Amino acid sequence: MKIAIAGTGYVGLVTGVVLAHLGHQVTCVDVDEKKVETMRRGISPIYEPGLEELMAANMERLTFTTDYAAAYRDAEVIFIGVGTPEKKDGSANLSYVNQVIRQIAASLERDAVVVVKSTVPIGTNDKLEQLLRASLVHPVQVELASNPEFLSQGTAVRDTLHAARIVIGVESEHAEAVMRTVYAGLDQPIVVTNRRSAEMIKYASNDFLALKISYINEIANLCELLGANIQDVARGMGLDPRIGDRFLNAGIGYGGSCFPKDTKALHWVSNYYDRELKTIKAAIEVNDRQKLLLVKKARKYYDSLEGKKIAVLGLTFKPETDDLREAPSLVNIPILLDDGAQVYAWDPVGETNYRKLYPEEVTYCPSIEQALEGADLCLIFTEWADVKALKAETFRTLMKTPIVLDGRNCFPLKCFEGSGVTYDSVGRPTVH
Ligand code: UGA
Repeated sequence: MKIAIAGTGYVGLVTGVVLAHLGHQVTCVDVDEKKVETMRRGISPIYEPGLEELMAANMERLTFTTDYAAAYRDAEVIFIGVGTPEKKDGSANLSYVNQVIRQIAASLERDAVVVVKSTVPIGTNDKLEQLLRASLVHPVQVELASNPEFLSQGTAVRDTLHAARIVIGVESEHAEAVMRTVYAGLDQPIVVTNRRSAEMIKYASNDFLALKISYINEIANLCELLGANIQDVARGMGLDPRIGDRFLNAGIGYGGSCFPKDTKALHWVSNYYDRELKTIKAAIEVNDRQKLLLVKKARKYYDSLEGKKIAVLGLTFKPETDDLREAPSLVNIPILLDDGAQVYAWDPVGETNYRKLYPEEVTYCPSIEQALEGADLCLIFTEWADVKALKAETFRTLMKTPIVLDGRNCFPLKCFEGSGVTYDSVGRPTVH
């Protein structure tokens, strides 16, 4: 099929590359000329394991352009994967999606199905279809389909190739048939619903996962006070198939471009209809508080952080991504700096983006050892594999005062028992 994709962020680019891999002719459109030039050379503008390799293997079926009119003119299917960032009031900003719809209306010269992959509030597909039909320049038949995305950053390619489900929200048999043809090469369960249900599945899924994380984080905080171990508790809970063992890792809260935005957006909608989602409100509040856990703990170990050397391991919101959006490092490091601490940070891929925000205030270290050297305290914000591979001995010998505050429970407690390092993690007893 001839497919166009609007937007080459995580969702758009991964979708485009995977659809090319399935044998479709795919044109990816982006407004950013520099980004398009990079992709034409086979280079992915985002750090995503496996993406560049899959891109390289399918370049003959991939075109990258800023010329949206040429891309949309004769496309059978047009995917929209542009951002829907959070507005100040928490609602979703649909201006990029609306702009793409207007561009499609101006360009389309054949019948097509327009597929919304961007996360949009319930009812948006209906409105977009009206807008599109009302603004079409050529007399063609168009329909909107909702096809929410469930990929996670860092595992986006695998998640798309081996998704647990494909959700398709359509209002006609024709649109359903087109969508089934698009995904014919993937052997995954397809859930077909109406458009509003598909839109809701996306929000309800992300918000449920966010709620699950906030729930386990609250239980973890209580475990810490009561002498229980959250990892044992989570294992004991997770073996019950009704609960499931995934997304029960306690830590310093969820970040990224999705859970924070999608919880706030659904909460905003529920308030708008005077049906506040109290569970989601609680998930948001718990997460905001949880993100500050390490800085609060740091202040317990030292009366003042003035002049203290603090090693920070990990800046990104999770491993295998260079994305800093809503990362706990963004709220903790400014507080540490305000307290007069000297921050020595290490991150294998997040450094470049963090430097743009804090070019001078933070010392960036090329190795973990350099960050730890002479430190009074070590804070772990991201569970990078290199961090998880460290030995207690490394902290003990390199740090001036070996105190490790682990926001991601990177190590079994026994690694630090009797080590001479104070190891304080989330929801587990502190060991020395
Ligand atoms: C999330 C969802 O997992 C995807 O299914 C969805 O498609 C995506 O949002 C989206 O809406 O586009 P993502 O934000 O990339 O994906 O990352 P996750 O792996 O879900 O992690 C989100 C945050 O939760 C991270 O900060 C992570 O550290 C945290 N987390 C995750 C925990 O604190 N504990 C856990 O057990 C799991």
